[in-house]
Amino acid sequence: MSKFFTCEIVGNSGQNANFKLLTLQPASQIIAPKPGQFYMIQTGTACDPLLKRPFSIYNFEQNHLSFLYRIRGKGTLSLSQLREGDVLQVIGPLGNSYPEPDGDFIAVAGGIGIASLLPLIRKYRQRAYLFYGAMNTGDLVMLEETRELAKEIFITTDDGSDGQKGWITHAVKDFLGELKIANQPSPRRKGALSIYACGPVPMLKALSEITRAAGLPCYASMEEHMACGIGACLGCVVKIADKRASLQRGAEAAGQFIYKRVCKEGPIFNIEDIVW
Ligand SMILES: Cc1cc2nc3c(=O)[nH]c(=O)nc-3n(C[C@H](O)[C@H](O)[C@H](O)COP(=O)(O)OP(=O)(O)OC[C@H]3O[C@@H](n4cnc5c(N)ncnc54)[C@H](O)[C@@H]3O)c2cc1C
Ligand code: FES
Repeated sequence: MSKFFTCEIVGNSGQNANFKLLTLQPASQIIAPKPGQFYMIQTGTACDPLLKRPFSIYNFEQNHLSFLYRIRGKGTLSLSQLREGDVLQVIGPLGNSYPEPDGDFIAVAGGIGIASLLPLIRKYRQRAYLFYGAMNTGDLVMLEETRELAKEIFITTDDGSDGQKGWITHAVKDFLGELKIANQPSPRRKGALSIYACGPVPMLKALSEITRAAGLPCYASMEEHMACGIGACLGCVVKIADKRASLQRGAEAAGQFIYKRVCKEGPIFNIEDIVW
């Protein structure tokens, strides 16, 4: 089965003023995506915008693909204006996927980062402690579905219009601190928890400090601008600690890094390895 295919739009509905859910029906049978993978999607029916844009798989059911997207610029605005019956070129599934959680897990979503994490939360129903942060109540989407799927949900908004006022990373830190004090038995046992995260870079950077201090594994999905999405243009690289140099030369190699492509080796990286 090819990763290059044509789809017909069967839904492109607004969740609120800024977010839409796009549902595509591929013209042929396609490869099933894994949680955390993404697709490059044509955003207009003419040649403009020329470049496809990357979107995480939100749902895959009965050979239909769904994507939750936020209207940000030219590409997503153009996509939001397309209608049922329009036909788009799509490439995917691309990139790696979230490693399988061992028992319960923590998912940390910043804004539209929820789109990447929901397939994982859906696949492992009632096993996620979901931490969902947004700027305000209008930026929180799919709350009904999320509440059904997650084991527990913690919400923060920057302006306090929903949930706790403040940053989601503070809520994660408090939660991990409470676990430590309570030394709770399974399933909340600290040792059983992996952390999965998708959101803006400042959120991921703050989270990396928290998870390092807590000694917990954390996998972060990185979002970079992408031109090709298939590893050819090197436009999407991030700095990753050079473990091989550290093994060979020890402390002398501390701080050395290599570049990895978000579209090919990512988008999911061990958060400890990312050089901010
Ligand atoms: C692997 C991956 C998965 C993604 N999944 C989703 C998703 O499920 N839903 C969703 O809404 N968005 C997702 N994005 C982001 C989405 O691709 C961008 O919002 C989109 O490409 C913007 O295109 P545009 O033409 O509308 O905006 P542009 O006009 O290109 O840019 C508008 C603004 O958005 C910023 N921007 C553009 N692309 C990115 C990016 N990749 N990361 C951070 N900032 C960016 C620009 O700097 C600018 O400020 C994902 C990105 C990646 C790399
Ligand atoms: S987008 Fe071209 S190499 Fe990643």
